[in-house]
Amino acid sequence: MKIFLDTADIEHIKKLAVTGLIDGITTNPSNLSSIKGNPKDRILEICRLLPHGHISVEVTELEPEKLYIQAKKIAQLSDNIWVKIPCHAHYYPVIKKLVEEEVKINITLVFTVLQALMMCKLGVYYISPFIGRWEDLDVDGMQYIPQMRHMIDFYGFETKILAASIRTVQHMHDALLEGVDAVTISPEIFEKAITHHLTDQGIEKFTKDWRRLEINNFP
Ligand code: E4P
Repeated sequence: MKIFLDTADIEHIKKLAVTGLIDGITTNPSNLSSIKGNPKDRILEICRLLPHGHISVEVTELEPEKLYIQAKKIAQLSDNIWVKIPCHAHYYPVIKKLVEEEVKINITLVFTVLQALMMCKLGVYYISPFIGRWEDLDVDGMQYIPQMRHMIDFYGFETKILAASIRTVQHMHDALLEGVDAVTISPEIFEKAITHHLTDQGIEKFTKDWRRLEINNFP
């Protein structure tokens, strides 16, 4: 189960990569628009920082032919790039062509099991179902994750589920129990997920008890 950070913030990536737990980064036009400097330079910096990570970079062109050319250029930036393409019917022919050309693709903005099925049939590497954006509409976005898992396993597709738009630690917890292949989470959620106040309290108590022995050299 891979853990990706959903950010383009280099300081966050550097800080959290030392845990050894970060398998990749998902960028999108929104998080790249919030950084200073050239987005291409930032993407290359992220690719260098995590040479074995899966780095997702989203297309920004809207017209299919232009999107195809842009997707190829993005893929050529680095071997560890997965090109993110929105799950829109206009792009299906382009997605098919890119898969045939062995471009690694992460289909973003996936909301339904039927959209997921179409992308599996086209043979993409990742689909990114969005959970939080369903919940913004008061719909249980998590319900689609086990349904997609079942659909993929039942029909024997190879496409992997990358749970996205995760807004809480509970989302992350539920997604991994449903057997997703990857989650992408903000640095804030990652930090919450790796800390627990009972662990902190436990360390404090063990340390306090041990210090009563006044032993300086152990073992
Ligand atoms: C990741 O690939 C997505 O771009 C991201 O998870 C979207 O999250 P949001 O719905 O919180 O913007």
